[in-house]
Amino acid sequence: MNTTYVTTRLRAALEAATDDRLVFDLPGIEERYASLRRELPGVEVRFAMKACPLDEVLTALARRGAGFDAASPHEIAQALATGVPADRVHYGNTVKSDRNIADAHRLGIRDFATDSVEDVLAIAALAPGARVFCRLATDGGGALWGLSHKFGCTPADALRVLEAARDAGLTPAGLSVHVGSQQMTAEAWRGALARMADVIAALRLRGIHLDHVNLGGGLPALGYRDRHGRPLEPPLDKIFAVIREGMRRLRAVSPTPLDFVIEPGRHLVADHGAMRAHVSRLSTRQQGTGERRHWLYLSCGKFNGLYEMDALQYALVFPTHRGADRVPAVIAGPTCDSDDAYSHEGSPVQVPRQAASGDPVWVLSTGAYATSYTTQGFNGFRPLPHTWIRGEREALAGSGAGRAVT
Ligand SMILES: Cc1ncc(COP(=O)(O)O)c(C=O)c1O
Repeated sequence: MNTTYVTTRLRAALEAATDDRLVFDLPGIEERYASLRRELPGVEVRFAMKACPLDEVLTALARRGAGFDAASPHEIAQALATGVPADRVHYGNTVKSDRNIADAHRLGIRDFATDSVEDVLAIAALAPGARVFCRLATDGGGALWGLSHKFGCTPADALRVLEAARDAGLTPAGLSVHVGSQQMTAEAWRGALARMADVIAALRLRGIHLDHVNLGGGLPALGYRDRHGRPLEPPLDKIFAVIREGMRRLRAVSPTPLDFVIEPGRHLVADHGAMRAHVSRLSTRQQGTGERRHWLYLSCGKFNGLYEMDALQYALVFPTHRGADRVPAVIAGPTCDSDDAYSHEGSPVQVPRQAASGDPVWVLSTGAYATSYTTQGFNGFRPLPHTWIRGEREALAGSGAGRAVT
């Protein structure tokens, strides 16, 4: 049986939707934020905006005390528009032009991620007085999306980068990592935290004392399925335990007090957003191999919200065909582009045999990266509108925590 994660209030909003849309459960996002704060006491949250750059989500999180991990001057401006002070926003992108740095500095940003001496020298020239934190590379093992090549430096380079920052008049303020998005193992965290402890000890010998550590992103969503449709079951409790233990160790090796921040993206929003789409057509076609296959074309696909089809089989619910006879199908989006399809060979999705054009389909756990990975009208398919479940008492009445949907 396929089960997945959805709140009662999200399900009610999906039932009520008569058109395609993305529905966000703001109280659900706030609850996930509160539970993260309970798990990692004292760790400040800087929401990674790229995961869901919608004003309503940002404002809800800001009201709860979150800050933001921004990756461009535009994101910084959007973060500040929620009313958070500039010191609750950092520039978390190691890739930035001179102009980006100057704009961020003008907007009041003082904390900058970095991973190269070239970037440090540009920050020193264009953002005098800034504080830099150096991103350490990880191998991305254990994550669905590794993020391993483009960012981060080796421990040896981190020493050079932070020494260069000090010599250029900046404050070498911290270290950061990203263990890879949808990280499924606690071991990846253990390794990253151990590497940071080694770098802090080596910096100490060079007279560089940091004031914070950024634990990065990577905390998992809970409602995903892998490419074969198997529920992913991240060991969240173990991950938190390993992070808490790693923080104790880092505090022990640091000669000065350390503060901690974390930059979750998908963990906060993925399970609290869902898509109401519809069936475009269920058809059968003979393949080049001679085999006949069912293809289920949906109104949404890779270019309008389901970009992460490469690694996930999205959890689909057909509310008008519960318990119906099913057939195995390839799932594809609506565009005239062959990339717009689940290409998970050998793992077709069970869909209702009677699915007809126009039938509603719910795509669960699509709150992360759906809006930011949406094209602006590929083949004329426009970005989906959004609907909010807000935090009013009435909306909360009768709402439950996560529950299974079949
Ligand atoms: C610097 C940085 N921090 C945090 C995140 C959020 O990652 P995740 O959604 O895996 O938590 C990202 C996303 O790629 C990132 O680039």
